[in-house]
Amino acid sequence: MNSSFQRLNREKRPAVAPSLLSADFSCLEREIRAVEEAGADFLHLDCMDGNFVPNLTFGPMIVEAVGKIARIPIISHLMILNPAKYVEAFVKAGSALVSFHWEACVSDHADVIRKIHALGCDAGIAINPDTPLSKVQHLLPDVDCLLVMTVFPGFGGQELIPEAVAKIGEAARLKQAKGYRFVIEVDGGVKPENAARVRNEGAQILVAGTAVFRCSAYAEAIAAIRG
Ligand code: DX5
Ligand code: ZN
Repeated sequence: MNSSFQRLNREKRPAVAPSLLSADFSCLEREIRAVEEAGADFLHLDCMDGNFVPNLTFGPMIVEAVGKIARIPIISHLMILNPAKYVEAFVKAGSALVSFHWEACVSDHADVIRKIHALGCDAGIAINPDTPLSKVQHLLPDVDCLLVMTVFPGFGGQELIPEAVAKIGEAARLKQAKGYRFVIEVDGGVKPENAARVRNEGAQILVAGTAVFRCSAYAEAIAAIRG
Protein backbone atom coordinates (compact mmCIF):
# COMPACT_ATOMS: atom_id res chain seq x y z
CA MET A 1 0.00 0.00 0.00
CA ASN A 2 1.27 3.48 -0.96
CA SER A 3 2.71 5.13 2.15
CA SER A 4 0.45 8.17 1.64
CA PHE A 5 -2.55 5.92 2.26
CA GLN A 6 -0.88 3.76 4.90
CA ARG A 7 -0.35 6.89 7.04
CA LEU A 8 -4.13 7.16 7.36
CA ASN A 9 -4.27 3.87 9.24
CA ARG A 10 -1.73 5.15 11.72
CA GLU A 11 -2.97 8.70 12.19
CA LYS A 12 -6.49 9.79 13.09
CA ARG A 13 -6.28 12.92 10.90
CA PRO A 14 -8.56 12.35 7.91
CA ALA A 15 -7.42 13.30 4.41
CA VAL A 16 -9.27 15.58 1.98
CA ALA A 17 -9.23 14.80 -1.74
CA PRO A 18 -10.72 17.57 -3.89
CA SER A 19 -12.50 16.19 -6.95
CA LEU A 20 -11.19 18.02 -10.02
CA LEU A 21 -14.55 17.41 -11.74
CA SER A 22 -15.73 20.68 -10.16
CA ALA A 23 -12.54 22.61 -10.94
CA ASP A 24 -12.18 25.23 -13.67
CA PHE A 25 -10.65 23.14 -16.48
CA SER A 26 -9.63 26.28 -18.36
CA CYS A 27 -6.94 26.87 -15.73
CA LEU A 28 -6.27 23.43 -14.30
CA GLU A 29 -2.67 24.12 -13.23
CA ARG A 30 -3.79 27.13 -11.19
CA GLU A 31 -6.60 25.10 -9.60
CA ILE A 32 -4.27 22.22 -8.70
CA ARG A 33 -1.70 24.57 -7.15
CA ALA A 34 -4.46 26.35 -5.23
CA VAL A 35 -5.89 23.21 -3.62
CA GLU A 36 -2.40 21.89 -2.86
CA GLU A 37 -1.55 25.16 -1.12
CA ALA A 38 -4.94 25.01 0.61
CA GLY A 39 -3.97 21.69 2.23
CA ALA A 40 -5.39 19.01 -0.06
CA ASP A 41 -3.87 15.57 0.61
CA PHE A 42 -4.82 13.89 -2.70
CA LEU A 43 -6.41 14.81 -6.03
CA HIS A 44 -9.53 12.79 -6.89
CA LEU A 45 -10.01 12.38 -10.64
CA ASP A 46 -13.43 11.27 -11.89
CA CYS A 47 -12.99 9.28 -15.10
CA MET A 48 -16.37 8.57 -16.70
CA ASP A 49 -17.13 6.66 -19.92
CA GLY A 50 -20.68 7.83 -20.70
CA ASN A 51 -21.85 4.20 -20.43
CA PHE A 52 -21.46 3.11 -16.82
CA VAL A 53 -22.62 6.62 -15.89
CA PRO A 54 -24.56 9.12 -18.05
CA ASN A 55 -21.61 11.50 -18.27
CA LEU A 56 -18.34 11.54 -20.22
CA THR A 57 -15.36 13.28 -18.63
CA PHE A 58 -11.72 12.41 -19.27
CA GLY A 59 -9.27 9.52 -19.61
CA PRO A 60 -5.62 8.65 -18.93
CA MET A 61 -4.37 11.60 -21.00
CA ILE A 62 -5.74 14.09 -18.50
CA VAL A 63 -4.51 12.00 -15.57
CA GLU A 64 -1.04 12.15 -17.13
CA ALA A 65 -1.26 15.92 -17.64
CA VAL A 66 -2.35 16.39 -14.03
CA GLY A 67 0.47 14.08 -12.93
CA LYS A 68 2.99 16.41 -14.58
CA ILE A 69 1.71 19.29 -12.42
CA ALA A 70 0.56 17.72 -9.16
CA ARG A 71 2.77 17.44 -6.09
CA ILE A 72 0.25 15.23 -4.26
CA PRO A 73 -0.90 11.69 -5.14
CA ILE A 74 -3.64 11.12 -7.70
CA ILE A 75 -6.63 8.89 -7.01
CA SER A 76 -8.33 7.81 -10.24
CA HIS A 77 -11.99 6.95 -9.72
CA LEU A 78 -13.02 4.86 -12.73
CA MET A 79 -16.70 5.06 -13.54
CA ILE A 80 -16.06 2.89 -16.57
CA LEU A 81 -17.62 -0.35 -17.79
CA ASN A 82 -15.25 -3.32 -18.04
CA PRO A 83 -12.42 -1.55 -16.17
CA ALA A 84 -10.03 -4.51 -16.76
CA LYS A 85 -9.44 -3.05 -20.24
CA TYR A 86 -8.39 0.37 -18.93
CA VAL A 87 -6.64 0.04 -15.57
CA GLU A 88 -3.17 -0.31 -17.11
CA ALA A 89 -3.50 3.02 -18.95
CA PHE A 90 -4.59 4.78 -15.74
CA VAL A 91 -1.75 3.28 -13.75
CA LYS A 92 0.81 4.22 -16.42
CA ALA A 93 -0.66 7.73 -16.51
CA GLY A 94 0.54 8.18 -12.93
CA SER A 95 -2.30 7.21 -10.59
CA ALA A 96 -1.24 6.31 -7.03
CA LEU A 97 -4.57 4.53 -6.54
CA VAL A 98 -7.03 3.22 -9.13
CA SER A 99 -10.56 2.51 -7.87
CA PHE A 100 -13.16 0.80 -10.03
CA HIS A 101 -16.84 0.02 -9.46
CA TRP A 102 -18.13 -3.36 -8.30
CA GLU A 103 -21.21 -2.64 -10.45
CA ALA A 104 -19.07 -2.14 -13.59
CA CYS A 105 -17.66 -5.68 -13.73
CA VAL A 106 -19.43 -8.98 -14.34
CA SER A 107 -17.37 -11.23 -12.08
CA ASP A 108 -13.66 -10.51 -12.57
CA HIS A 109 -13.30 -8.10 -9.66
CA ALA A 110 -10.45 -10.07 -8.05
CA ASP A 111 -8.64 -10.27 -11.40
CA VAL A 112 -8.86 -6.49 -11.84
CA ILE A 113 -7.44 -5.97 -8.34
CA ARG A 114 -4.62 -8.39 -9.09
CA LYS A 115 -3.91 -6.62 -12.39
CA ILE A 116 -3.67 -3.20 -10.68
CA HIS A 117 -1.37 -4.62 -8.01
CA ALA A 118 0.79 -6.38 -10.61
CA LEU A 119 1.31 -2.96 -12.21
CA GLY A 120 2.63 -1.67 -8.87
CA CYS A 121 -0.37 0.50 -8.02
CA ASP A 122 -2.84 0.53 -5.14
CA ALA A 123 -6.29 -0.85 -5.93
CA GLY A 124 -9.69 0.31 -4.67
CA ILE A 125 -13.24 -1.03 -5.06
CA ALA A 126 -16.14 1.44 -5.25
CA ILE A 127 -19.76 0.72 -4.32
CA ASN A 128 -22.86 2.74 -5.17
CA PRO A 129 -25.31 3.88 -2.49
CA ASP A 130 -27.65 0.95 -3.23
CA THR A 131 -24.92 -1.73 -3.25
CA PRO A 132 -24.62 -3.53 0.10
CA LEU A 133 -21.17 -3.96 1.63
CA SER A 134 -21.73 -7.73 1.52
CA LYS A 135 -21.26 -7.66 -2.29
CA VAL A 136 -17.58 -6.69 -1.90
CA GLN A 137 -16.82 -8.27 1.47
CA HIS A 138 -14.76 -11.06 -0.15
CA LEU A 139 -12.55 -8.45 -1.86
CA LEU A 140 -11.79 -6.39 1.24
CA PRO A 141 -8.78 -8.46 2.41
CA ASP A 142 -7.02 -7.58 -0.85
CA VAL A 143 -7.89 -3.94 -1.59
CA ASP A 144 -6.09 -0.81 -0.44
CA CYS A 145 -9.22 1.34 -0.56
CA LEU A 146 -12.99 0.97 -0.25
CA LEU A 147 -14.74 3.86 -2.00
CA VAL A 148 -18.18 4.37 -0.47
CA MET A 149 -20.35 6.45 -2.80
CA THR A 150 -22.78 8.76 -1.04
CA VAL A 151 -24.32 9.86 -4.34
CA PHE A 152 -25.11 7.91 -7.49
CA PRO A 153 -22.04 8.51 -9.67
CA GLY A 154 -22.02 10.74 -12.74
CA PHE A 155 -22.11 14.32 -11.59
CA GLY A 156 -20.74 16.69 -8.98
CA GLY A 157 -22.97 18.97 -6.94
CA GLN A 158 -25.48 16.34 -5.80
CA GLU A 159 -26.83 16.04 -2.24
CA LEU A 160 -25.28 13.35 -0.01
CA ILE A 161 -27.66 10.39 0.43
CA PRO A 162 -27.96 9.97 4.23
CA GLU A 163 -28.90 6.27 4.00
CA ALA A 164 -25.49 5.57 2.45
CA VAL A 165 -23.59 6.89 5.47
CA ALA A 166 -24.27 3.87 7.71
CA LYS A 167 -22.25 1.72 5.28
CA ILE A 168 -19.14 3.69 6.25
CA GLY A 169 -19.53 2.61 9.86
CA GLU A 170 -20.27 -0.96 8.83
CA ALA A 171 -17.06 -1.04 6.78
CA ALA A 172 -15.04 0.55 9.59
CA ARG A 173 -16.25 -2.03 12.09
CA LEU A 174 -15.52 -4.92 9.73
CA LYS A 175 -12.05 -3.50 9.03
CA GLN A 176 -11.36 -3.23 12.76
CA ALA A 177 -12.65 -6.73 13.52
CA LYS A 178 -10.66 -8.40 10.74
CA GLY A 179 -7.56 -6.19 10.82
CA TYR A 180 -7.91 -5.22 7.16
CA ARG A 181 -5.63 -2.51 5.73
CA PHE A 182 -8.03 -0.78 3.29
CA VAL A 183 -8.66 2.91 3.80
CA ILE A 184 -12.23 4.19 3.56
CA GLU A 185 -12.80 6.93 0.99
CA VAL A 186 -16.22 8.65 0.90
CA ASP A 187 -17.37 10.42 -2.23
CA GLY A 188 -20.42 12.48 -3.11
CA GLY A 189 -22.07 15.51 -1.59
CA VAL A 190 -19.52 15.82 1.22
CA LYS A 191 -19.40 19.36 2.64
CA PRO A 192 -18.61 21.09 5.94
CA GLU A 193 -22.22 20.66 7.14
CA ASN A 194 -22.16 16.85 6.91
CA ALA A 195 -18.41 16.07 7.12
CA ALA A 196 -18.40 15.45 10.89
CA ARG A 197 -20.98 12.66 10.53
CA VAL A 198 -19.01 11.09 7.68
CA ARG A 199 -15.78 11.31 9.69
CA ASN A 200 -17.38 9.91 12.84
CA GLU A 201 -18.57 6.86 10.89
CA GLY A 202 -14.95 6.19 9.95
CA ALA A 203 -14.19 7.97 6.67
CA GLN A 204 -10.44 8.41 6.20
CA ILE A 205 -10.41 10.18 2.83
CA LEU A 206 -13.18 12.69 2.21
CA VAL A 207 -13.74 13.60 -1.42
CA ALA A 208 -15.18 17.05 -2.05
CA GLY A 209 -15.75 18.70 -5.40
CA THR A 210 -18.37 21.41 -5.18
CA ALA A 211 -17.75 22.11 -1.50
CA VAL A 212 -14.15 23.07 -2.33
CA PHE A 213 -14.20 24.54 -5.83
CA ARG A 214 -17.41 26.51 -5.39
CA CYS A 215 -15.98 28.07 -2.22
CA SER A 216 -13.98 31.30 -2.55
CA ALA A 217 -11.49 30.16 0.13
CA TYR A 218 -10.30 26.64 -0.66
CA ALA A 219 -8.25 26.39 2.57
CA GLU A 220 -11.30 27.20 4.68
CA ALA A 221 -13.40 24.58 2.90
CA ILE A 222 -10.71 21.90 3.19
CA ALA A 223 -10.09 22.66 6.88
CA ALA A 224 -13.83 22.58 7.61
CA ILE A 225 -14.24 19.23 5.85
CA ARG A 226 -11.22 17.74 7.63
CA GLY A 227 -12.53 18.97 10.99
C1 DX5 B 1 -19.51 11.72 -8.77
C2 DX5 B 1 -18.01 11.75 -8.50
C3 DX5 B 1 -17.68 12.54 -7.28
C4 DX5 B 1 -18.08 14.01 -7.41
C5 DX5 B 1 -17.89 14.69 -6.09
O1 DX5 B 1 -19.76 10.80 -9.79
O2 DX5 B 1 -17.51 10.45 -8.29
O3 DX5 B 1 -16.28 12.45 -7.03
O4 DX5 B 1 -17.28 14.64 -8.37
O5 DX5 B 1 -18.35 16.00 -6.25
P1 DX5 B 1 -19.25 16.65 -5.10
O6 DX5 B 1 -18.35 16.74 -3.90
O7 DX5 B 1 -19.63 18.01 -5.65
O8 DX5 B 1 -20.42 15.73 -4.87
ZN1 ZN C 1 -15.46 10.34 -7.57
